[in-house]
Amino acid sequence: MNAINRLAVVVSLASLLPLSAIAENANPGTVEVLHWWTSGGEAKAVETLKAQVQEDGFIWKDNAVAGGGGAAAMTVLKTRAISGNPPAAAQIKGPDIQEWGALGLLTELDYVSKANHWDSLLPQKVAQIMKYDGHYVAVPVNIHRVNWLWINPQVFDKAGAKVPTTLDELFAAADKLKAAGFIPLAHGGQPWQDSTVFEDLALSILGPKGYHAAFVELDEQTLTGAQMVEVFKTLQRLGTYMDPNRAGRDWNIAAAEVINGKAGMQIMGDWAKSEWTAAGKVAGKDYQCVAFPGTQGSFAYNIDSLAMFKLKDENDIKAQNDLAKVALEPEFQTVFNQNKGSLPVRQDMDMSQFDACTQKSSEDFKEAAKGDGLQPSMAHNMATSLAVQGAIFDVVTNFLNDPSADPATAVKQLSSAIKAAK
Ligand code: GAL
Repeated sequence: MNAINRLAVVVSLASLLPLSAIAENANPGTVEVLHWWTSGGEAKAVETLKAQVQEDGFIWKDNAVAGGGGAAAMTVLKTRAISGNPPAAAQIKGPDIQEWGALGLLTELDYVSKANHWDSLLPQKVAQIMKYDGHYVAVPVNIHRVNWLWINPQVFDKAGAKVPTTLDELFAAADKLKAAGFIPLAHGGQPWQDSTVFEDLALSILGPKGYHAAFVELDEQTLTGAQMVEVFKTLQRLGTYMDPNRAGRDWNIAAAEVINGKAGMQIMGDWAKSEWTAAGKVAGKDYQCVAFPGTQGSFAYNIDSLAMFKLKDENDIKAQNDLAKVALEPEFQTVFNQNKGSLPVRQDMDMSQFDACTQKSSEDFKEAAKGDGLQPSMAHNMATSLAVQGAIFDVVTNFLNDPSADPATAVKQLSSAIKAAK
């Protein structure tokens, strides 16, 4: 066959193919993902998702908006949604998923969720959060625990400090670290980090039931009660062990201070582990993770999830469905969570592939789920609307930034700020 005849055969074969298949080859479909996983360790975790989507033949468009806790990412998302140009997927969590669902912007993932049996893979509590009006509109990727304390044991040894299990022991350890010339508590002065410490203290002092009354029920008596005054008092005292130059510092920079042996401890959720892992450190050997003092038996959860927006292009929809499917596959759940520091959200995973901290987290999750111990994190968008959360953040950060602020006044401000935001 000569060249012209060969070409003729190719052209006539092409005319037999449906148009969509030709278009599919020309345009494999793009999935744009808006998230705030930009620290060294977290970026590695995202890479595993991107690699899988690309392996399936789709284009990954990364929309990473720096800023721990995601406030900056949420601002970008709102602006894009208002101008009618939302991404395919965005990191949206907790009750906020319902608000986006009510706007009619999210797509229903019925086909992917049924074909991949999400209802039987996910804990019911998690599935509920991901559904709007009975349909999955978001896919969860992990379960983070917020109430952790991260410890550098070498620094503790040098200072003669003991790993704390109670708040009194926490202050005793902090005193030893301070006396030995270390920063006792690494911290970044950003509202969400301040409130991460605040909610851990609330869980410790009020217990899980009191925590629930305060941050889920927004019960006024609990918010203004003597124990909440105690939470603020203890926060003020803890503030004296934090670096005074902490304003604006990112959480991963604070984590690096503990990793490098400049500071002794950090109060942070287990995404902090992603930094230890990325630095080649081994859980239980190079560092220790313990439940935040006084919160043993409780588990403040923070579930990262990707909510999916309505799209028009058929190929982009295929890419979006692929992302949703991949996110819950066992291989991805393993590598992503090994890098991210979190627990797989699937309940049927082999936990022997995870390190000591994640294994402990998995046991504690199950234990906490038996009683009242499992509580949604306020600081990480799981307990309230973002408006109420913002009101709490303001009060807590203003309080922590003013060493002479009055705890009794703070609880009144807390309650009225929440009322105004509700
Ligand atoms: C949380 C998020 C985590 C982690 C952290 C620090 O809100 O759920 O995955 O990224 O912020 O940015």
